[in-house]
Amino acid sequence: MQLSTKNLLGIKDLSAEDISLILNTASQFKEVLQRPVKKVPSLRDITIVNLFYENSTRTRISFELAEKRLSADTINFSASASSVSKGETLLDTVNNILSMKVDMVVMRHSASGAPHFLAKHIPAAIVNAGDGINEHPTQALLDAFSIQEKTGSLEGKKVLLIGDIMHSRVALSNIYLLKKMGAEVMVAGPPTLIPTYIEQALQVKVEYNLKKALQWCDVANVLRIQLERQNQVLFSSLREYNLAYGVSKKLLDSLQKEIVIMHPGPINRGVEIDSDVADSSQSIILQQVENGVAVRMAVLYLLAGKKTE
Ligand code: CP
Repeated sequence: MQLSTKNLLGIKDLSAEDISLILNTASQFKEVLQRPVKKVPSLRDITIVNLFYENSTRTRISFELAEKRLSADTINFSASASSVSKGETLLDTVNNILSMKVDMVVMRHSASGAPHFLAKHIPAAIVNAGDGINEHPTQALLDAFSIQEKTGSLEGKKVLLIGDIMHSRVALSNIYLLKKMGAEVMVAGPPTLIPTYIEQALQVKVEYNLKKALQWCDVANVLRIQLERQNQVLFSSLREYNLAYGVSKKLLDSLQKEIVIMHPGPINRGVEIDSDVADSSQSIILQQVENGVAVRMAVLYLLAGKKTE
């Protein structure tokens, strides 16, 4: 089977069949990653550049590791240490890199739509590793893989996204994916961080009371406050945010059931989530990171048009 798309720009462009194919392929790669020799020769004739115009810990390391596990040749590009500081444009930078016979580009950029712009101008396959406040498709895929692994399926699951929905590319990609795969989605947070159109436009439930929202869900994905993307004051203080929307052990203990806790990282401990929740047995935060490698191997492998060996 093949993906219906040449690039992975967003979950918006994927069908439910594409998503299932990626998740099933990731399961096979997860099995490879449990072996003593965690490497397969699938992409040994492929060269991939990791083009990061914005900071990253998890996504960047995860893509690089996925590429190495698939035996691809990899090049890491960091905008801050490049000729971008001398005025070179995105398109010039990428065309120069491609002239060195690069097959795929993994790109993170602070501008929403940057990978879509590139896809119109270059022949290499492009994987969006996060663009502004638009999408972060591989994060949503690894979140879905982790929910499926922990709870058995996505169909009918009640998934809550908490926090800065307005500025979160993780939220948008998760909403697209979960809705396509038959899950129910609710968002919770301060009214100033939840777009007013979201309920109608994306068919999600909205709840401003965190305890009620937690009582509704099976899985809660806690999001970071994206202070770097906010150009105005949208809540009074981080302390007040924590009191109203921070996920604490006391709050979870007051529920009548145990829910699964997720977070895409990086975590702001004591703001959106307390340490005794992030580090608890209910939390699958580090499993999400582990699963990211298998999911990114699946994406790269399928986009390279290979067949499972
Ligand atoms: N989840 C995520 O995208 O983390 P990084 O910004 O560290 O890549």
